[in-house]
Amino acid sequence: MIKVSDRVSAISPSMTLAISAKANELKAAGERVINFGVGEPDFNTPEHICNAAKKAIDEGRTKYVAAAGLPALKKAIAAKLKRDNGLDYDPSQIVVSNGAKHSIFNAVFATVNDGDEVIIPAPYWLTYPEVVKSCGGVPVYVYADAKDGYKVTAEKIEAAVTPRTKMLILNTPCNPTGAVYGRDELAAIAAVCERHNILVLSDEIYEKLIYGGLKHYSIASLSPAMKELAIVINGVSKSYAMTGWRLGYLACPPQIAKAIASFQSHSTSNVNTITQYAALAALEGDEQPMRNMVAAFENRRNAAAKILDGMKDSGLTYVMPDGAFYIMLGFGKLYGKCYGGEKITGSMQVADLLLTEKKVALTPGICFGDDSGVRISYALSESDLKEGLERIADFAAQLK
Ligand SMILES: Cc1ncc(COP(=O)(O)O)c(C=O)c1O
Repeated sequence: MIKVSDRVSAISPSMTLAISAKANELKAAGERVINFGVGEPDFNTPEHICNAAKKAIDEGRTKYVAAAGLPALKKAIAAKLKRDNGLDYDPSQIVVSNGAKHSIFNAVFATVNDGDEVIIPAPYWLTYPEVVKSCGGVPVYVYADAKDGYKVTAEKIEAAVTPRTKMLILNTPCNPTGAVYGRDELAAIAAVCERHNILVLSDEIYEKLIYGGLKHYSIASLSPAMKELAIVINGVSKSYAMTGWRLGYLACPPQIAKAIASFQSHSTSNVNTITQYAALAALEGDEQPMRNMVAAFENRRNAAAKILDGMKDSGLTYVMPDGAFYIMLGFGKLYGKCYGGEKITGSMQVADLLLTEKKVALTPGICFGDDSGVRISYALSESDLKEGLERIADFAAQLK
């Protein structure tokens, strides 16, 4: 039998697959499963964006275009980066790819050599370590505490730096914790990266999903030296409810953008041309539908927090998320207790029992490098949110 390459065999299989397969089985059997596992907005793509795609088809804009992106779209992205983030990039420093995930892969592939270390704050988005490993890099985890709002400090990052450190992956707002880094926190982290000449892959895909009047800062905007070390990742998936369209982008120093553009020209070529016209309409068009969506997420976050605050006696803990649409629910205080005679020791077991016993699907924290809790997504209706949290509280109350 032919063996797969060492490169791909280093990649871990998705730990969430078994849970989603089981959730689907239960649904097919007629059970009402509350699904807290979703990683995408439950809103439709705004109409003006869909219309731009239909128009592109009707006008025959269905051919190959430049591998790194339509010139008009790259110009619109440069204008967005200036307008929203105070960043000056020439369109030649921007590469449009098939989703932010693809941009992240390209960025790591283009900069990380075998054995290079990449610092990843935990809890982390589960794709980062797998991308780093598949490019020959070595993930180095720095753990954030719930008591610090799930944010790592500059000191913690500096303590993990070695002569082999090549990159730091920063994600604000963060999946899975909803943590949002403030300007001063980012400035302190930027100082560490500048001191040690470390690249920062700054994943800002949840930039627009931010609450309580907080402001998003791109670390690249904090100093010219930091901008030289930054690869800014963003896209339309989460902000404009366009997850299925597949469009993300990155902005970075010219030599890196050039390398990524030529690599992409030999791998995927351009992103679907029709999608690029849709993204252009998203970036240049009416932002009211997005604002409505953000307001709905903020209401749900507040509703979830209110319900959780009313369950203080359950032993469940949480940190109020400032962005994205996730909450890490801490089960740590309940470990060691038993459910029907079975001792609870970890997040995989909690997720499994919640699904089997309470028909609630969610993601175990271990997938994000934090076994002390589970992640719920509030990209679902307020009534499902309420019912789901009540089922979880019910489960917690049955632990003896
Ligand atoms: C932190 C983070 N970055 C990137 C992505 C990928 O986004 P896209 O759908 O544009 O590839 C996700 C999607 O879940 C995410 O949570």
